[in-house]
Amino acid sequence: MNLLEVDSVEKEYRLPGQKPIRVLDGISFSVASGEHVAIVGRSGAGKTTLLNILGGLDRPTRGDVAIAGETLFRGFGSSRRRNRLRATAIGFIFQSYHLMPELDVVENVLLPSMTGHASVPAARSRAEDLLCKVGLADRMGHLPAELSGGEQQRVALARALMCSPRLILADEPTGNLDRLTGAEIMRLLFEANGDPLAVVMVTHSAEAAAMCDRTLKLEGGRLA
Ligand SMILES: Nc1ncnc2c1ncn2[C@@H]1O[C@H](COP(=O)(O)OP(=O)(O)O)[C@@H](O)[C@H]1O
Ligand SMILES: [Mg+2]
Repeated sequence: MNLLEVDSVEKEYRLPGQKPIRVLDGISFSVASGEHVAIVGRSGAGKTTLLNILGGLDRPTRGDVAIAGETLFRGFGSSRRRNRLRATAIGFIFQSYHLMPELDVVENVLLPSMTGHASVPAARSRAEDLLCKVGLADRMGHLPAELSGGEQQRVALARALMCSPRLILADEPTGNLDRLTGAEIMRLLFEANGDPLAVVMVTHSAEAAAMCDRTLKLEGGRLA
């Protein structure tokens, strides 16, 4: 069974008094466990919209997404299932990091565990281990504003790994970084594989795409 199955996903935005905008027009693909897939396409092509739907942060107008055989949007109990999968199977990395400015580095990494049942000391020690792994052992008590862009993206990576996800969804994770720092983030992301970790990554970087197993191009609402 594939880890991720995307089945005929369509997305229309309807704004009052305007013609609906069809952003995704029948997207189907699958990702195997442990596979790394790049999604490329022009600005406005719908890449962020697609990624948000894959992770259950936004709903498709039609179609469905399944993670390890569990559908996110259709069928009985889909909203509970979606919340559970978001908390246990999926990690997000955003282009602009999305760290909480008033929380320190460890607290930011701990955030995803707060919806789970892990004990607090166990979660804290996992967060600290992850921060050591991404090279931030000596920055744990710092606020995001005290870190560089690359360091903030490493915190975001540690946070995404906190729930031991099977799938990481990353939206231009190297977009705000210089080449070397971006390459470092990619290395950490792809090395994170203890258990097989699938990655779906939107990117404008040919170098980052070349590191993936496969590249999908989004154009006119479809995969070219
Ligand atoms: N909430 C929204 N309401 C209306 N239109 C939106 C909304 N979000 C995105 N769009 C439109 O959908 C299209 C795709 O956006 P997006 O997925 O952000 O593209 P990309 O990430 O590829 O640059 C754009 O034309 C954008 O204006
Ligand atoms: Mg985008």
